[in-house]
Amino acid sequence: MVVGTIKTLIIGTSGMLGSDLCKVFPDAVKLTHRDLDIKNREQVIESILEIKPDIVINAAAYTDVDGCEDNKELAFQTNGYGPGYIAEGCAKVSAKFVHFSTDYVFDGSKKEYLETDVPDPINVYGHSKLLGEKEIIEKMHDYMIVRISWLFGVHGKNFVETVLRLSREIDTVKVVNDQFGKPTYALDLATKIKEIIELNPGIYHITNDGICSWYEFASSIIDNTVPCTSEEFPRKAKRPKYSVLVNTKTEPMRHWNEALKEYLKERNA
Ligand SMILES: NC(=O)c1ccc[n+]([C@@H]2O[C@H](COP(=O)([O-])OP(=O)(O)OC[C@H]3O[C@@H](n4cnc5c(N)ncnc54)[C@H](OP(=O)(O)O)[C@@H]3O)[C@@H](O)[C@H]2O)c1
Repeated sequence: MVVGTIKTLIIGTSGMLGSDLCKVFPDAVKLTHRDLDIKNREQVIESILEIKPDIVINAAAYTDVDGCEDNKELAFQTNGYGPGYIAEGCAKVSAKFVHFSTDYVFDGSKKEYLETDVPDPINVYGHSKLLGEKEIIEKMHDYMIVRISWLFGVHGKNFVETVLRLSREIDTVKVVNDQFGKPTYALDLATKIKEIIELNPGIYHITNDGICSWYEFASSIIDNTVPCTSEEFPRKAKRPKYSVLVNTKTEPMRHWNEALKEYLKERNA
């Protein structure tokens, strides 16, 4: 299959990852939330039957981790059943389906997670994303479920922007130093998806290289940050302490610190 000659459909194109996927797949058919609501089974299947794509990439999701605790139904409809509807549509037209899941499907009791580790989420967002994985696996075979983590990109609200804003607004920015993960640059990820799209179906863990705490991540962005514990910074949704995804299937990507430098340059350009 030669990617340039095949028809790709991207869903959720106005989000952070969706926007960078559009850069990397400029010829794709692009659908925003306004064009298609993935909660609507009929609309999803009709759109896919009409477009007849060879590949569907879904970047649409309800990504407000704390918001999911209050809006459980919306979380499960969007992150759980929605991907299942897309999978049904893909099966009908024999399209490959690339979908994104999260490090938050794991409980964080292990330091590192392989693709084969058994998920056990500790918050509603994680449960809803895990349901999405299960719905896809049940409904089709030619899927790539790509678990990613700590995403930052020029087209969305993200941790880097939040700490930059706080750094201007307050004297010292407290950031948790007891949750560890792998920051990932959305453009690197989108580029990687194009590279690996012809690989075998299955679950993939794809992140930038390098592990850090949120505090360590913040320290490489701003000067006025101090470490704190998760107990000092309570959130509505529980977060896993370690959500380090290990990629055993593809070539590693560059270190997050290098990607961060490029991001900071890009956002200031
Ligand atoms: N951000 C992270 O740190 C992170 C970490 C791990 C995994 N992920 C996963 O990576 C993927 C991309 O995340 P992201 O950060 O790029 O998300 P994002 O910036 O929040 O974008 C999500 C997009 O989905 C759209 N959307 C929401 N509900 C929809 C619906 N019912 N139908 C169609 N579109 C809908 C949103 O549109 P509106 O804004 O118009 O509603 C938005 O454009 C998601 O699957 C997410 O779970 C993200």
